[in-house]
Amino acid sequence: MSPFALTRTLPADATAAALRTDVSAGLTAEPKWLPPKWFYDARGSELFEEITRLPEYYPTRTEREILAVRAQEIAAAIDARTLVELGSGSSEKTRLLLDALPKLQAYVPVDVSASALELAGHALLAERPELSVHALVADFQQVLALPDTPGPRLLVFLGGTIGNLLPDERAHFLASVRSLLAPGDALLLGTDLVKYEQTLVAAYDDAAGVTAEFNKNVLSVLNRELGADFHPADFDHVARWNPEHEWIEMRLRARAALTAKIPALDLAVSFEAGEEVRTEVSAKFRRAGVSAELAAAGLTLRHWWTDSADRFALSLATLQGAPTP
Ligand code: SAH
Ligand code: TRP
Repeated sequence: MSPFALTRTLPADATAAALRTDVSAGLTAEPKWLPPKWFYDARGSELFEEITRLPEYYPTRTEREILAVRAQEIAAAIDARTLVELGSGSSEKTRLLLDALPKLQAYVPVDVSASALELAGHALLAERPELSVHALVADFQQVLALPDTPGPRLLVFLGGTIGNLLPDERAHFLASVRSLLAPGDALLLGTDLVKYEQTLVAAYDDAAGVTAEFNKNVLSVLNRELGADFHPADFDHVARWNPEHEWIEMRLRARAALTAKIPALDLAVSFEAGEEVRTEVSAKFRRAGVSAELAAAGLTLRHWWTDSADRFALSLATLQGAPTP
C-alpha cells in the first residue's frame, strides 16, 4: 500500500451544491449569515496558518504547550495504533502526539481543505516514511467513513474548532464522534476557555489585519465559485464578545448600502449601510460545560489538562462505561 493516500468523500459537484445551498439560505435570511467552512480554500488555509503565528492569537501556542507537557500522559492513557484528526489543517501540533505514541501505525487527517491535506501529508511523509497517512477530504459534520486501520484509535479535534459549531451542531457532532469510537478508543478535544474580554477580542481582531483578511476571504470564495461581484473592501471586519452565549462573533459589516449579484444563484443581495453578515462564532468553554456536553453524547471526561494560565484546555474522553484508561 502507498504510504500516502488522499481520498475524497466530497466530490467537486457535491461541494459546489452545498456551497450554493448554504449561501442562498444564509444571505436571504434575516439577519444574514454564512457558514464558516467556506473560509478554507487554499488562500483561507494559508491565512489561517498566518493567524496561528500572530502575537494576539494565543490558542495555537497555548494548546501546543499543553500537548508538549502532556503527550506522555496521553500516550499512557491510550496506546493508539491509529490517530484520526478532524479539521487537521497543517497537522503541525499533531507531531507532538505522533512522536509520543510508540505503537502508532496510521494517521488519518480529515479536512475540507484538500490543499491543506496535500501540504501536510507530503511534509509528514518526508519526515516519517514508516507512517501510513490516509488523508480524507471530508466534512466532519457529515457521516464519516474512516479507513480500515488497526485499533485502538485516538480521535483528536484540536484548535478549539468545536467552538465554531453552534450548540445544536455540537451535540450532533459529538454524537457522531461517539459512534466512531469503540471501547478502548478515546477522544482528545481542544477547547478555548472563557477569559478576559479584551484578550478574546484581540485574538480575533489583530493589529496587522490578518484576521480581517481571513474573514473577507469568504467573499472572494463566493466571487470565484458563484460568479458574485463582492468587493471585499466594501466591508469591515467585526469581532465582538457575546456574553450571553460566551462566544466571539465574527461579522462582515457593509460600509455603505450596496447590492451584490450572485449569478450562479440567480440572486441579488442588498445590504443597508452598516448591515452585518455573521460569518463565524468561536465559543469559549468552562470545564462543567465540556463535561456535560460530552456526557450528553455518551462520553465520559477522563482527563482535563490546561496550561498554567488556564487559557485553553485539552480533554480526554472515552465511551461511557468503558474502563478508565
Ligand atoms: N487543527 C488545526 C487547524 C484548525 S483551523 C489547528 O489546530 O491549528 C480549522 C480546520 O478545520 C481547517 O483546516 C479547516 O479547513 C477545517 N474545517 C473547517 N470546517 C470543516 C468541516 N466542516 N469539515 C472538515 N474540516 C473542516
Ligand atoms: N478554530 C479557530 C478559532 O475559533 C478558527 C479561527 C481563528 C477563526 N480565527 C478566526 C475563524 C477568525 C474565523 C475568523 O479560534
